[in-house]
Amino acid sequence: MDAIISPKAIQTEFPECVGDLLTSDPVVQMSHYISHGKTTTLEHCCAVAYFSMRLSRTLHIQIDETSMLRGAFLHDFYLYDWHVPVSGRKLHGFSHPAAALRNARSHFSINRLEANVIEAHMWPLTLRSMPKCREAVVVCLVDKYCSFLETMGYRYRSKFMRYIPVRRGEVNG
Ligand SMILES: [Fe+2]
Ligand SMILES: [Fe+2]
Repeated sequence: MDAIISPKAIQTEFPECVGDLLTSDPVVQMSHYISHGKTTTLEHCCAVAYFSMRLSRTLHIQIDETSMLRGAFLHDFYLYDWHVPVSGRKLHGFSHPAAALRNARSHFSINRLEANVIEAHMWPLTLRSMPKCREAVVVCLVDKYCSFLETMGYRYRSKFMRYIPVRRGEVNG
């Protein structure tokens, strides 16, 4: 992926699209949980949003960028530590997209594209929840790319991450 998005673009365009999410207590709570490796779920969602923006701009894919970014920021909004087994909870890989969508709908107004981005991001694992729009296809692919990097121990911190104006880690709960 080239067409790197400048720090200034990140600092101005992200708040325009997802400003309410960047300052939301429930969204910031994702910094309490680990996604893969040493990456928090909040960092993972920031990375998926950033790389989805980069991929769609590099390939000139016609998308609703705001819906894609909002869906990407909320795609793992399940708010629990998936590494801790809880009796009665279904397998995380299969169930967390639906949990994330439930949480997203309970805190924000979610449109049709955003809902599909969230519920289909684990496809083909979630066989019947498949991407039905370009926004969901991009996020589904980028989520796998980011998850692989994180599992291999890659850290985003020194790159684009510091320019995303999201509150980090000062929320109780
Ligand atoms: Fe996920
Ligand atoms: Fe994810």
